[in-house]
Amino acid sequence: MCGIVGYVGPRNAVPLLLEGMQRLEYRGYDSAGVAVRQADGRLAVRKRVGRLANLEEALETEPLAGQLGIGHTRWATHGEPSEVNSHPHVDCAGNIAAVHNGIIENYLALRSDLEAKGHVFRSQTDTEVIPHLIEELLKDGAVSRSAAIRQALRQAQGAYALGIVFRDEPAVLYAARCGSPLIVGVGEGEQFIASDVPAILNRVKQVIYLNDGEVAELRPAGVAMAKLDGTPVQPEIKTVTLRAEAAERAGFETFMLKEIHEQPRVLRTMLETHVGKDGAVNLGEVSDLLAAEAAGLQRIVILACGTAYYAGMYGRLLLEAWAGIPCETDLGSEFRYRHPRLPERTLVVAVSQSGETADTLASVRLARRMECKVVGICNVAGSTLLRESDGGLLTQAGPEIGVASTKAFSAQLLAFALLAIRLARLRGAMDAARERELTAALARIPDGIHRVLERQDDVRRISQKYYECYNALYLGRRFNYPIALEGALKNKEISYQHAEGYAAGEMKHGPIALINEFLPVVCLCTPTADEVRDKMVSNLKEVEARKGRIIAVAAEGDATLQGLAQDVIPVPETIEEFSPLINVVALQLFAYYNAKLRGADIDKPRNLAKSVTVE
Ligand code: F6R
Repeated sequence: MCGIVGYVGPRNAVPLLLEGMQRLEYRGYDSAGVAVRQADGRLAVRKRVGRLANLEEALETEPLAGQLGIGHTRWATHGEPSEVNSHPHVDCAGNIAAVHNGIIENYLALRSDLEAKGHVFRSQTDTEVIPHLIEELLKDGAVSRSAAIRQALRQAQGAYALGIVFRDEPAVLYAARCGSPLIVGVGEGEQFIASDVPAILNRVKQVIYLNDGEVAELRPAGVAMAKLDGTPVQPEIKTVTLRAEAAERAGFETFMLKEIHEQPRVLRTMLETHVGKDGAVNLGEVSDLLAAEAAGLQRIVILACGTAYYAGMYGRLLLEAWAGIPCETDLGSEFRYRHPRLPERTLVVAVSQSGETADTLASVRLARRMECKVVGICNVAGSTLLRESDGGLLTQAGPEIGVASTKAFSAQLLAFALLAIRLARLRGAMDAARERELTAALARIPDGIHRVLERQDDVRRISQKYYECYNALYLGRRFNYPIALEGALKNKEISYQHAEGYAAGEMKHGPIALINEFLPVVCLCTPTADEVRDKMVSNLKEVEARKGRIIAVAAEGDATLQGLAQDVIPVPETIEEFSPLINVVALQLFAYYNAKLRGADIDKPRNLAKSVTVE
């Protein structure tokens, strides 16, 4: 999704904007631009379609300099990716420039009203109404610039994060937020704005998370804030604990590979935080919320999108099995429109890496209107989801820059395991001995993942045989069914190889028609002893009988699978419930090498955005 950076201070804004925009590239974009208030009094704008390098080249050929500026990476929604549709957008006179993330839903009405008043629009974007509207409101000179911004935003419906600068106000940067994330970075004698913390992590250590309906006025010496009605707001400054290196590649060829390798550490950190020496799970404020809710709980609804939804499917199985509560999982984009009927005392668990996904947030708001308590599982401190939840569980994965989620997904799986154990204990459905047994098994998972990572070259060699195939089928059962879906999603999003995830038992009901000697069928076959193991082996036999090419993720030394599959990715065994935490790593590596061999841009897959802040 679009990324915003802004700067006001004593230094030249241009390199700072470009640096921040580079750090936002991971969000996904198709064009980029900057507006800089130059010393000669002009408000200069440069934009280019495509990679940021194109804009950097343009700025080398025709340099800009100034101490106030805004920059933007655009992910097209209204209007094709083109120079004219790229941000910043300006008013008729070129005195006001704005960058925007979100969608102004009533832009057509605003635009025709402004056109009737003589404003000339250049782009097809919704964003362009903002500078024109402010220009219109400032026309008779009766209001201040900040009042005009607030008035304009009272008229705008939809979602926005905005950065706005004025040609004749060289030391003020305005920022506003409603529904799309925006932070202010507080420096010494200089201020920044950005869509997220990693963009300015190496520049500031203190940030202000803007709330919906707040407008900030940044001057080099400080920040003033007000609500849309003009009521002043006291800025709440928070210190960022993330280290700048957390958002760097650290010698890995891609962020995704680095993040795959970070998984043992991420899980260890979460276990250290949430499991005591006695083996008991403690989830801080979520434990308190669960303690108050546990006894009377009627139902749990898990809400999420994409990869996080698959983590939710896994969570559902654990919550039902251990805590004994009816549980359902729904997509944010479906729940919000399905007119849900929820029994009293329904607990909602919303899962989101970014905490800014529009559909997930809309569903959470709907659930809150229905008086549900909400637990947010999220990877970004200060995110909207965590702020709007009754209890937040931070998955301590650190910044995830690769667009395809890996370490944040594993952290979500672990968060659900911990949540289910805690809830089961609170409801008396699990005793302390079983809890200790489970947390001891969890403590061994990071080493298990290490063992899979050590085999990455073997996985690469397997990918070499399959990366040219057009399609792939992924099969799993019970706890590994969501992992089959996740493995297929990972593969298609980064390698563009079409992949379908299926519950293995469903194969006979349709996809079996696809199986022939050209179709790779990736099968999740651990552990060796559980209720569904024999069924899984039968499904593999069905694939074998039709000459499908079986790639099995199987327990080390599993002789049955060695005999059945063309290729085996051996993984260490754990209990069935936790096998997804290990198996998913094998599938991440398989997708990774497929993508690499196909020459794809792994960290920035085409058309995808890291944080989907529009519907
Ligand atoms: C896929 C992926 C997406 C996200 C989805 C929700 O690898 O990352 O499917 O899971 O867009 O995003 P969050 O988790 O930020 O709500």
